[in-house]
Amino acid sequence: MSAARRRFQPSGPLRGSYRPPADKSISHRAALFGAMCDVPVTIHNYLDSADTRSTLEALLKIGAGVTQDGDEVVVRGVGLHAALEVTGGQLDVGNSGTLLRLLPGWLAGQPGREWTLAGDESIRRRPVDRVVEPLALMGARMEAREGRFAPLTVGGSELRGIEYPAPVASAQVKSCVLIAGMLADGSTTVTESSQSRDHTERMLRSSRVPFERDGLALTVSQVDELELEEITVPGDPSSAAFLAAAACLVPDSRVTVSGVGLNWTRTGFFRIAQRMGATVVGALEQPGSLADQEPVGELEVSYGPLEGTEVGGDEVPLAIDELSLVGLLGAFAQGETRIRDAAELRHKESDRIAAVVEGLAAIGADIEEADDGFTVRGDGSPLEGGVLDACGDHRLAMLGAVAGLASEKGVEVIGMDAAGVSYPGFEQDLSALLRA
Ligand code: S3P
Repeated sequence: MSAARRRFQPSGPLRGSYRPPADKSISHRAALFGAMCDVPVTIHNYLDSADTRSTLEALLKIGAGVTQDGDEVVVRGVGLHAALEVTGGQLDVGNSGTLLRLLPGWLAGQPGREWTLAGDESIRRRPVDRVVEPLALMGARMEAREGRFAPLTVGGSELRGIEYPAPVASAQVKSCVLIAGMLADGSTTVTESSQSRDHTERMLRSSRVPFERDGLALTVSQVDELELEEITVPGDPSSAAFLAAAACLVPDSRVTVSGVGLNWTRTGFFRIAQRMGATVVGALEQPGSLADQEPVGELEVSYGPLEGTEVGGDEVPLAIDELSLVGLLGAFAQGETRIRDAAELRHKESDRIAAVVEGLAAIGADIEEADDGFTVRGDGSPLEGGVLDACGDHRLAMLGAVAGLASEKGVEVIGMDAAGVSYPGFEQDLSALLRA
């Protein structure tokens, strides 16, 4: 990926409404579940981004049919116990950690087939031992570079059900095991250490797969086929969070986010921003909800003077992709903002602890790195600005842009093109809110 440089100047208030792009996590799952079905599945509002294109391309290579008309995608699947038309080969996951961790769950249950998943530079640094371990316990033949990293080779087998206490609170690991569990003998239970996003669970229910939740223990039973015809993907709350954060930071801003997913396992950022002093109005799903549907709605986010906060423990997985933004809010807030228990951030598209600390420090923040997070101190005044390197990470690129708008002198972002991984229309949506 080339490192496009883009400058974001201090701005006046953001006003008006925007519709964030479709949810990335749900789009990946929708396409994958579609490919596991026997009948065609229509996906409305499929995300058109680099990551989700990688998923469609991988599924095509496996033998599924894919037709795309605007944001509507029809996947003609090969069935759960796929008579996969191709015997195996290389799959390119691009920059997508979700594809890298979820797809092996399905491939692991295809006896006699072998696939190798590889991707870009950043994918080669992302750990896969977290899915190698449970899938090997289920009977799959797994091979990763140095036992830990992509390329990852998955040799399919007849799987057996397991009881698996997941060592990290990761929706990707949980989803991988649950997907493999549909193909495994008997039943499979995965227990999370803390609640992470639950889109896979909701999709299992809507696909009529025998599935139970008991607190953090999730059990899926072997099944012959999925019953799914249609999925509508809500807007992505993680993508929505960037322009919402800009509204929290630039005085007098008020924006309306429409068509956004309000699933409580994804909206931790909005609860944190509210706690820090921003105004967030809307029907956020109640924490703890076990609903099967993905709730969608509207949120109104307005500027407010911010105060520092603490984020740790069970709140971390509920805002995992937005913790860097919490750091940015903290840099503009009065007092100290501490993020802890978030060592997982070191395994994202970049080492997101190091990259955030370096990036925010470069534009004037008083920020300190910890093993499992960071502490940022502010006095309620804006950051000066400067140059921020996105380190090839889409979320850092957008963070830099937001920081620029709220800064004194502007921010130049190195690698703004990375935003296309999840939010190709980010700059257009931003300009529209500045013009409104
Ligand atoms: C995702 C889960 C999270 C998140 C990632 C998408 C998913 O990763 O950071 O952007 O779609 O399941 P982990 O499950 O590894 O925390």
